[in-house]
Amino acid sequence: MSQLFSPISIGNQSLNNRIVIPPMCQYSAENGLANNWHLMHYGTLSNSGAGLMILEATAVCPVGRLSPFDLGLWGNEQQQSIATLISNIRQYSAIPIAIQLVHAGRKGSMPPSWKPKQYIPPQQGGWQTVAPSGIAYNENYNTPHALTKDEIRVIVKQFAQAAVRADLAGVDFIEIHAAHGYLIHQFLSPLTNKRTDEYGGSFANRIRFLLEIYQSIREQFSIKKDVGIRISATDWYEGGWNLDESIQLAEKLDALQCSYIHVSTGGLVENQQIQLGPNYQVPFAQAVKQRVTMPVITVGLITEAIQAEAIVSTKQADMVAVGRALAFDPHWVRQAAIKLGGKTSIPPQYLSSVPHGFKNLFID
Ligand SMILES: Cc1cc2nc3c(=O)[nH]c(=O)nc-3n(C[C@H](O)[C@H](O)[C@H](O)COP(=O)(O)O)c2cc1C
Repeated sequence: MSQLFSPISIGNQSLNNRIVIPPMCQYSAENGLANNWHLMHYGTLSNSGAGLMILEATAVCPVGRLSPFDLGLWGNEQQQSIATLISNIRQYSAIPIAIQLVHAGRKGSMPPSWKPKQYIPPQQGGWQTVAPSGIAYNENYNTPHALTKDEIRVIVKQFAQAAVRADLAGVDFIEIHAAHGYLIHQFLSPLTNKRTDEYGGSFANRIRFLLEIYQSIREQFSIKKDVGIRISATDWYEGGWNLDESIQLAEKLDALQCSYIHVSTGGLVENQQIQLGPNYQVPFAQAVKQRVTMPVITVGLITEAIQAEAIVSTKQADMVAVGRALAFDPHWVRQAAIKLGGKTSIPPQYLSSVPHGFKNLFID
């Protein structure tokens, strides 16, 4: 029996299997609006047979975008475009859908990932970036404005409002993006947070911004729906945010009924000492999992079915996110089902294409 293809619940949602499509920015929106690229891309992935699809980092306000081409959820027009995307997907797929809410902070106003990294100034469609402290990522990025406490309060509200809009647009879950060096992570880490008020200094102060966002989303958001959080479990840098702090944070979130934790790493500072390789982030997920009851997702260079199966069956994580491998081969899940003898869904239009002898694994 494949454990990867066994069902699991996240809060109120049942997932058919433990394969997660992680958020992947498409840098293809104008004015935050989803368009036909998003329909083609998410339409395909929603029919891949995965257990959960998380839509890309979606900004809670225009200044919260990574690039001018990110999805947004700050107004009615943006909400409507996500609602249209979801209802089109829903014609053909019942996959649970989460959306990742982000504020990019000092890493905002940059080009799409496939272009050279160079800050886009306001006169070319960019904006003045913001952060806990006025420290630039490096010389190719803008020096951010250090947020005032009033400005922090506005951003907390924008997260809650975007969550309400996501709910109205038909999204099943929210994922708060607290990883990869974006604004929330900038508050978490002492490397980027040099504040002397109640949002900086001690661990309790550095996690305050995230907890305020989490609580305000929970208060506003339909209580039937679930809220998970993605963290970077380490900055891979001496004196930065680390695994011990991640575990302490995860325990607090667990006590606050957080629906799941998605454990990534890095992205905060340019000179991180990262050790890349297959499963390189799995030990972080495993260390968190030992201390919490909520489901834990691991991610990062997990490309093979048997590799994903081993992680779940040895209980290193509850779910495995497969990003680039699944984007490159949207049939990855079905190929994995064949390799592992797992059962998964398939659109009836593809049933006749299933290799001989494996039809019993697929349910239309
Ligand atoms: C094109 C692309 C876009 C990404 N965008 C996001 C994003 O919007 N939010 C996020 O948290 N991570 C993002 N990531 C990171 C992925 O979610 C994932 O953590 C990473 O690719 C490692 O997993 P993999 O080795 O299976 O691809 C992105 C990665 C890629 C390749």
